[in-house]
Order: sequence, then C-alpha cells, then structure tokens
Amino acid sequence: MPDRAIIKANLKNTLTKTDFQGVNSVYKGKVRDTYEKDGKYILVTTDRQSAFDRILASVPFKGSVLNLFSAFWFEKTKDIIDNHLISIPDPNIAIVKKVTILPVEVVVRGYITGTTDTSAWVNYKNGERLFCGVQLPEGMKKNQKFDTPIITPTTKEEKHDAKISRDEIISKGLVSEENWNKVEKAALAIFQRGQEIAAEKGFILVDTKYEFGLDEMGNVILADEVHTPDSSRYWIADTYEERFNAGEEPQNFDKEFLRIWFVEHCDPYNDEVLPDAPDELVEELSYRYIDIYEKLTGKEFKYNADMPIHERIQKSLNQYFSG
Ligand SMILES: Nc1ncnc2c1ncn2[C@@H]1O[C@H](COP(=O)(O)OP(=O)(O)O)[C@@H](O)[C@H]1O
Ligand SMILES: [Mg+2]
Repeated sequence: MPDRAIIKANLKNTLTKTDFQGVNSVYKGKVRDTYEKDGKYILVTTDRQSAFDRILASVPFKGSVLNLFSAFWFEKTKDIIDNHLISIPDPNIAIVKKVTILPVEVVVRGYITGTTDTSAWVNYKNGERLFCGVQLPEGMKKNQKFDTPIITPTTKEEKHDAKISRDEIISKGLVSEENWNKVEKAALAIFQRGQEIAAEKGFILVDTKYEFGLDEMGNVILADEVHTPDSSRYWIADTYEERFNAGEEPQNFDKEFLRIWFVEHCDPYNDEVLPDAPDELVEELSYRYIDIYEKLTGKEFKYNADMPIHERIQKSLNQYFSG
C-alpha cells in the first residue's frame, strides 16, 4: 500500500523543470524531457501533471511510477517486438535507443468509450460508423466491449491529433505498407498481452496509445511509453459488468478530480497564472499512481527520496556515463 506520510513529506520534492549538466538537452515535452549523450537518448520522466495543454501540478513520485510502469511493460512484451529501452539508471530515467518516431500514434481500443472529439464513443454517438477506416457495428452502447480490439490511428500534430485510416497512412506515404503491417500486428499482440496481464490483477486495459519508431537499421521497434496510466485507460474488472448493465460508468483510475478543481477555481484555458492545487488533491493523485503501479505490477514501489530529486538524478546520470 502507498505510504501517505512519505508522499506528504515529498510534496515539494518533485521534478518540474530539469536542467541537467553533462548531457545535451534535445526536447522538452509535456511530461518528459529528452537529453542526448553518446548517441543515446535520455528520457527523463518528470512529475508534471498536464491537462488543458498546460501544467496543473507536480505530483510526488509520478515520474518514477510512469517510468517504472513502462519498463515493466517493455519487459513483458519484448518477445513480441524489440523496444527502445537500454537501461534504467534511476527511477526517473530511461536510457533509450534513438529512433525516428513514425508520424502516427497507434491507438488501440478494446471498448467503445471516451468524451473528447477524437474518442470512439463521441464519434459513434454522433452517427459515425466508419471510424479511422474501421467499420463499427450498429447498436453499440457506451463502454461496450468490441468483438476484437480495433486500431484507430491519429496523426501526431502540434495542436490537435487528427483521425486517420490505414489506407490514408499508406497512400500519403506516412508509413510504408510493409512497416504499417508490422505495426498493426505488434500493436494488437502487445495490447492482448496487456489485457491478459491486467486481467490477472483485476484490471481491464480499455485502450491505449503506442508510438513506434525506426532504428538505424530501419527496423520497426516499440518506443515512447507503454501501458502507463497516462497513455492508457484502466477499469476495475469485477464491477465492470454490473455497472455496464445498469448504465453506470465503470470504476476507473481517475485524475478527473484535479481537472474539475481547476475548472471550478479558475479559467484554466485563459488565465495566465493558475492557482496552486490543494495539497490534499496532489497527495491523493500521488497515492493513486503508486497504488495502481503496485497492484498491476505486483511490485512494491520503492520510495527513493533521501535527496532532492534533481540532485539525485544528476548523480545517477554522472555515474551512468562515467561507468
Ligand atoms: N526512442 C525514442 N527516440 C526518439 N524520440 C522518442 C523516443 N521515445 C519517445 N520519444 C519521443 O519523446 C517525447 C516524450 O516526451 P512527452 O512528454 O511524451 O512529449 P509530448 O509532449 O511530445 O508527448 C515524445 O515526443 C516521443 O515521441
Ligand atoms: Mg507523449
């Protein structure tokens, strides 16, 4: 079980901004900062919690949890397809092979759900039956399981990701047909593996997003993050059916409460400066990330908090690259 005392003690010991020495900064993403050294990429997962296209809070241990979560899934799927992971020299760092990320996000869905305009459910409710090139049957209800998981790709855009079909991906030359076939096959197999392992722990892996890349030999490999609570949706398995039949929403890993707090206390789309989220909410979110990590992986989360986090990671980097 997560330790609330340790979480509380580390509410200010979080990784929001990074400025590491001895490595070259390449890219600052929404959640991760990428550095480079000796031809490898260093993915640093921060504690940033993003929503409304901005940073809402810094959540203790979130970066570690996400990074270790991904590492767990890379290990569990490496027999299906090679991945970018080389080493985890610190809970917040992944040393990875540099790849050319394919310009398509590979979304796999086992259930029809969602609330945004790229979600399968909202499109379906609005009458769309051909979704990203996939023909959907009549009469589906919200949160219903698909007969078999479907792939609904989106393009990787600066602003809003746009839906795209298999045929368009190939005809526009975004990915070659040969490589896209490999991507589809791997994505479905990884998703199935994810669903099986989640089910053993009492979870449903509902949907997820993969990023694949080409390595220096031109091979398709799995990159980015895998089956983390930021890239995937999980529901609690044993209450799903009863709730679905009663027309209720499934129990989920929910970070919606933080978004709701901001909507109620400011205008998160327009205000220049946002208020600080209350400590109790940040603590609760940290608890939930650690909790789902422990339950899903069956591993105990190790709190690595005896040092300021930025200092610890710098030390880990120095050690890794001097060794
Ligand atoms: N092995 C890799 N090689 C190159 N780029 C990668 C690799 N793995 C992940 N990436 C990229 O690194 C970035 C990770 O940071 P993230 O915070 O997710 O960024 P974003 O805000 O763009 O989603 C993403 O842009 C992702 O495509
Ligand atoms: Mg990302």
